[in-house]
Amino acid sequence: MSNVSMKEIVNLCQNRWFVFQGSEIYGWLANAWDYGPYGSLLKENIKNLWIKEFVQKRDDMMLQDAAILMNSQVWVASGHVWGFSDPLIDDKNTKERFRADKLLEELISEMWDKASTLQDKYWVSNLVPESWSLEKQTEVMRWESVKNPNTWESWDWTDAKKFNLMFKTHQWVTDDTGAEIFLRPETAQGIFVNFANILRSSRRKIPFGVAQVGKAFRNEITPGNFIFRTREFEQMEIEYFCEPGKDLETHAQWKQACREFLLDTLKIKEENLRFRDHEADELSHYSNATTDIEYMFPFGWWELWGIADRTDFDLKAHMKESKQDLSYFDPVNNKKYIPYVIEPSVGLTRLFLVTLIDSYTIEQKWEETRNYLKLDPKIAPIKVWVLPVVKKISDIAKPIFKQLAEDFVCEYDDVWSVGKRYARFDEIGTPFCVTIDSENYDAWKVTVRYRDSMEQELIEISKLNEFIRVRLK
Ligand code: GAP
Repeated sequence: MSNVSMKEIVNLCQNRWFVFQGSEIYGWLANAWDYGPYGSLLKENIKNLWIKEFVQKRDDMMLQDAAILMNSQVWVASGHVWGFSDPLIDDKNTKERFRADKLLEELISEMWDKASTLQDKYWVSNLVPESWSLEKQTEVMRWESVKNPNTWESWDWTDAKKFNLMFKTHQWVTDDTGAEIFLRPETAQGIFVNFANILRSSRRKIPFGVAQVGKAFRNEITPGNFIFRTREFEQMEIEYFCEPGKDLETHAQWKQACREFLLDTLKIKEENLRFRDHEADELSHYSNATTDIEYMFPFGWWELWGIADRTDFDLKAHMKESKQDLSYFDPVNNKKYIPYVIEPSVGLTRLFLVTLIDSYTIEQKWEETRNYLKLDPKIAPIKVWVLPVVKKISDIAKPIFKQLAEDFVCEYDDVWSVGKRYARFDEIGTPFCVTIDSENYDAWKVTVRYRDSMEQELIEISKLNEFIRVRLK
């Protein structure tokens, strides 16, 4: 488990230009976050690696980018207009609003801690408030005297009611409901509605998949934990179409692919991850299998990535609503069917948070405490920091910066002592520093310093780019 607290992560993000509070000079907008210079680069690197692993390196995947604003009928067909809601409950005393199922989950986790026998623990772990009716959630909240988590005082709960998470807006110049549209709450539907287009234009044979990265919007009742749950966020989603009956084996393959991406590509620590298969009573009515990859955040185990076998539910729903044929003709077996789909869906901004937490390292070295981000060099926002030991040798240092910047994202810094600068670059997770001094420069050499070991090596300037390129692989 990571020992870092959320406070340390938030401080790092705000002090080191990763994430800022949105609209800060106007007193902020609650739960809106802006990604600063290093945050944008880190997020972009994670996204590009995801595209590389899941699209570029596979011959069965394609990338698309659908519009955020879609015809409202899309959300009627997908079930979001009527069904995309969370159970909202108000404390009449304080007028605060909460998600009833989340308060009940906290209660259940306390019950699990207190359960003394294996049998009791098993019984508690099978309680899934998310699947309970609103009446049952209200009844249990009252029966168990669940407290307001902010005040820990007496409560007076309203009945739990459905709260739709869709953000509404208006298209065209009038405010009438005919022009009402939604900001998409997920990117996935953009893939389903393009299924026929993709099939026609790409002439792909099933199985194949389509990937998409983009913004999604949900009017969350209880956003929070920094960028963990926000109202505006980015998703990276895949819809992988397969033959009915082959869905369970395809689901297992995607579980493995996502696991490899987290462990081998992003180098997330294995002990901080767990794969939780949904039990029958937690599964959506249309799903044959769903797995949540959960991460051990400083505030507990929470979902990072969902991998759902959604059968033919979405394509069928869009066929019914749009009256278009979204079936597939299999030329080999000469049969027509509606494909099943496996959907691995992860929040880019949530994965960004995971990489920060997971790489945050506090180390005792030479009686000093060192904090740094042990990010995999592939995702580090700045790959090389170029620093002349003294400001006045910029005439020899600047050309070296230019040479490196041809190939890598670099920064140049000649302020403060070298030691102070190293500490700052380490905190941002920069894997290499290139230090230039006149003496070594006369021998056409510079010093490369490694972030993790803090060791240093003299390298010929003509071989510098290749030296770093090899180590970034
Ligand atoms: N199309 C399926 C879908 O959207 P989901 O479980 O609602 O499924 C998928 O979302 C992923 O998107 C989650 O596992 C999480 O990583 C991310 N996510 C969902 N809601 C989020 C929010 N409010 N803020 C940040 N990330 C969110």
